[in-house]
Amino acid sequence: MTITLKPQENTSGDASIADQGFGRVAAVPAVLFDPRRQQQEAIRFFTDNGFVVLSPCLTPSELVALNEFFDRTQKQRPDAWGLGTRRKPHHREQGLIFSQPLLDYPELDGYLQHPASFPIVSALLGGAERVRFSELNLRETPDNAGTGSMNFHHDAVREDRLLRKPYMPCDWLCAIHYLTDVSDQTPAFCVVPKSNQFETLKDAHEGLGNEYVELPIHGPAGSCVLYDTATYHTRLDGDGKKSRRTWHQYYARGGWLRSALPTTDKYQRSPTPALTDWNLFPERLAMHDDPKMRLFFSHWNTAQGEWVASGFDEQVRKSMPRGDQ
Ligand SMILES: [Fe+2]
Repeated sequence: MTITLKPQENTSGDASIADQGFGRVAAVPAVLFDPRRQQQEAIRFFTDNGFVVLSPCLTPSELVALNEFFDRTQKQRPDAWGLGTRRKPHHREQGLIFSQPLLDYPELDGYLQHPASFPIVSALLGGAERVRFSELNLRETPDNAGTGSMNFHHDAVREDRLLRKPYMPCDWLCAIHYLTDVSDQTPAFCVVPKSNQFETLKDAHEGLGNEYVELPIHGPAGSCVLYDTATYHTRLDGDGKKSRRTWHQYYARGGWLRSALPTTDKYQRSPTPALTDWNLFPERLAMHDDPKMRLFFSHWNTAQGEWVASGFDEQVRKSMPRGDQ
């Protein structure tokens, strides 16, 4: 007989164990919103909670094509995925990741403003003209990856988030698309709703009181989780045996935006900074014929600036970290 211990809630508020969460797992599953029929409800839910789950988001044919892309590129470019001769010793840490598939695969361009999710992403970043592309990568936790312990954390944040009024639009938004079914047996994304307005997870635990929960997000292949990068989240491991595939896409907010802080009413929010110092946009996107697409790909980091100055030279690209991944 196997005895499974349920996680015990840590009510002490001990900061030393706060990163692993407080063990108060939500009693009810995440609500799934149909992005084609429930746009306004989804936008309102994200605004109130710092995340929303869209399902179904991807179509069955898109799922077939994207899974075929994983199969094909893992064979064609094993090193780019961390397979082959550069196989990562511990899949548990990150799993497999193809960091910059857009560089060599224009076939992915049609997914970058997905018709189901993009209207919602646009509303959450202040309008379609303010949405900027940050990064796209593909990830897989393979079969039998084992279990580990990713801590709760937030991604990139800006200082003013705790003071500005209004809070929205957010600075960065991440979309995690499930390309395989996600359950309590597979790796799963997990969020603390409303935690984006707190500096630490402990502050969220204290400030949210009875509202504080850790919510695993399960859903069928084709679901998409949108989250504010300031929202605390982690990856749960599942049983350590079953695999999961995901497409991660980050968006940033462009343009200057009038806002207010407690000390001044003349505050302007600047465009969100670049998310990394290495991510590159290929020439066909950075120099796109359509000015709207050029604006979408206009948040360049210093590596991109140097690559553009070189005339998108292949050797310059390959000299950069992950330039071939
Ligand atoms: Fe994260």
